[in-house]
Amino acid sequence: MTLEAKIASRIDLSAVPEVVPFFDAATNTISYVVVDTATRHCAVIDSVMDIDYAAGRITSDHADRIIAHIAAQDLTLDWIIETHVHADHLSAAPYLQDRIGGKIGIGAQILEVQDVFGKIFNEGTEFQRDGSQFDHLFEEGDSYRIGDLEAFAMATPGHTPACMTHVIGNAAFVGDTLFMPDSGSARADFPGGDAGQLYDSIQRVLSLPEEMRLFMCHDYGAGGGREIAWETTVAEERASNIHVGKGQSRDEFIEIREARDATLPVPKLILPSLQVNMRAGHVPRDEKGRPVLKVPVNGL
Ligand SMILES: [Fe+2]
Repeated sequence: MTLEAKIASRIDLSAVPEVVPFFDAATNTISYVVVDTATRHCAVIDSVMDIDYAAGRITSDHADRIIAHIAAQDLTLDWIIETHVHADHLSAAPYLQDRIGGKIGIGAQILEVQDVFGKIFNEGTEFQRDGSQFDHLFEEGDSYRIGDLEAFAMATPGHTPACMTHVIGNAAFVGDTLFMPDSGSARADFPGGDAGQLYDSIQRVLSLPEEMRLFMCHDYGAGGGREIAWETTVAEERASNIHVGKGQSRDEFIEIREARDATLPVPKLILPSLQVNMRAGHVPRDEKGRPVLKVPVNGL
């Protein structure tokens, strides 16, 4: 069976998970609790730890809201999923796992990300570049379960090499491939990013059934012009996405994407985010075991 046939065979639009969004205003990230309503098992996708970088202070208000929701709804947490190594916020995966369990999973291409950023941060041999900080590395097309719900991971690289879209019943969590139709797509200029690859990945997402619900990892209110939004459909993205919904060719997309990326500032939290997220959300420690973050000068 071809990969595309395998993916098509796994799609089940009759399975409708409950999707509860948690918007983090500091980083414009949307975390999700995805619930199998039959068994009350759930997954958390793209959690956030709060950081005051200037003060070197990490706190947990956003993650605590998620934990409170899971406790109040009496849910069992099966999975803590990262759609990719985020460059704009810290993952709360270990914080959640310590308190309410769950397995931490990310795309298998994390090894490539760890290799690139292990060098940029001049990490020593104590930083393993084998993905072992995570409980599970998803390969292309891997399926898994949330209670009785079947879910699967689809490789959608381009924004980063390890980006995956997670399809859970009639809901797909696209990470940073697509944004809402009026906002286009995510940047592809980080080390390991590739605009052409991102175009190909977006086409894979758009080849899902048109009624598939799509959930974004980020929204910026179209630059401040509308309310924050995070849910759309394949049909809506196909019809009106400003970067891919007007019949743009791959070359045209690359041109649009690269021109836009050249204007974007470096994300404010990229340095702490990468160091923490490439370790599955663990803050690196110095030789005395104290949590510390590095600032490589002119390293990015
Ligand atoms: Fe991202």
